[in-house]
Amino acid sequence: YSAVEIIAAKRDCRELTRDQIDWVVAAYTRDEVAEEQMAALAMAVLLNGMDAAETAHWTQAMIDSGEVLDFGDVGRPLVDKHSTGGVGDKITLPLAPLVAACGAAVPQLSGRGLGHTGGTLDKLEAIPGWRASLSTDEITAQLAEVGAVICATTPTLAPADRRLYALRDVTGTVESVPLIASSIMSKKLAEGTGGLVLDVKVGSGAFMKTAARAGELADAMTAIGAAHDLPTTALLTDMSRPLGRCVGNALEVEESVEVLRGGGPPDVVALTVALATEMLALAGITDADPAQVLASGAAHDVWERMIAAQGGDPSAPLPVARHVETVTAERSGIFSGADALAVGTAAWRLGAGRARKEDPVQAGAGVRLLVAPGDEVRAGTPLLELHTDTPDRIADARRLLAGAALLITGDPPPARELVLDVR
Ligand code: URA
Repeated sequence: YSAVEIIAAKRDCRELTRDQIDWVVAAYTRDEVAEEQMAALAMAVLLNGMDAAETAHWTQAMIDSGEVLDFGDVGRPLVDKHSTGGVGDKITLPLAPLVAACGAAVPQLSGRGLGHTGGTLDKLEAIPGWRASLSTDEITAQLAEVGAVICATTPTLAPADRRLYALRDVTGTVESVPLIASSIMSKKLAEGTGGLVLDVKVGSGAFMKTAARAGELADAMTAIGAAHDLPTTALLTDMSRPLGRCVGNALEVEESVEVLRGGGPPDVVALTVALATEMLALAGITDADPAQVLASGAAHDVWERMIAAQGGDPSAPLPVARHVETVTAERSGIFSGADALAVGTAAWRLGAGRARKEDPVQAGAGVRLLVAPGDEVRAGTPLLELHTDTPDRIADARRLLAGAALLITGDPPPARELVLDVR
């Protein structure tokens, strides 16, 4: 094959054969297909699409570019979850220990954040001593002993995706459903999980802004799961508002620990339990009640062991930002919610996220909401706190959170529907 022939085929809306896909992904991994050729092919795929068979083959070719992990028998069924990313989405932190406390093993290989949605590893790195990089042997041992691991993906896992994702990021080709679906699923399939629950976010703070687009992505991912015999369930969940009250690395760890201790914001608790229920169903565990296990503190015990196993001190004080300022209500009324994108972007600007892959994040930076939707406020009531080590960013954050970003209405907001659909 030649790269040009394959690019031209997709440019002309033809279906790519399995052999063409295998060849082009393998040749790209070996540096025999140039970056500009892969960029052209990604753009042709973005414009002209791939059908389910092509997408399944593309996924397999990316898996084959690296190693498939095999944890062997860890004595419990393996099940994992992936979220497409949202503002205040710290659910992995309470969820992995909860599902482990209910009897499954959770190998959660995660990424760092880029842009406003934040990364699970960045959050956990706020905990003094905690280490993200583990060897496959360490992951296996921790799965058997603790039941939950949250760590960095290994460099050998779907290396073609790592390169292609970085290339798509700088060529305007991220927003292709078959490319997103195959990117996410290749990493999860290579991780060797036995079941997968997808949390596909919908709304201003999500990658997919509408339920129709999110549904398309969910269907593409569950189809790949089916083609690879991986039991997969997708939930479409609301991301028009942040999850919980805290957005930022250490702030989200603190809120997660509250949930693990049986408290915390009701939306974080509800989504954690909803996802745990789906994960346990896929793992074949029918005799556990995740809501009760969470309330009992058993998941908190697993959390402490999981953090300690990776060098972290679960009882150490978390880092705090050097500057904290409040944003107050502009008028009186009923607080009806904060826009997820505005809060996420403000937290990112305050230092919780990064603009480039190599940038550091501030552990203490972020936003803490002081009111819940439905609370009555007066002009001047503090609505939220801005946390940062770099106070020159505060003016930017205030601008992002002005006007309609913090909604104050005459009537109470309708109850939030958190889980919009299950597929
Ligand atoms: N997340 C991924 O891992 N890959 C994509 O292509 C998009 C989001």
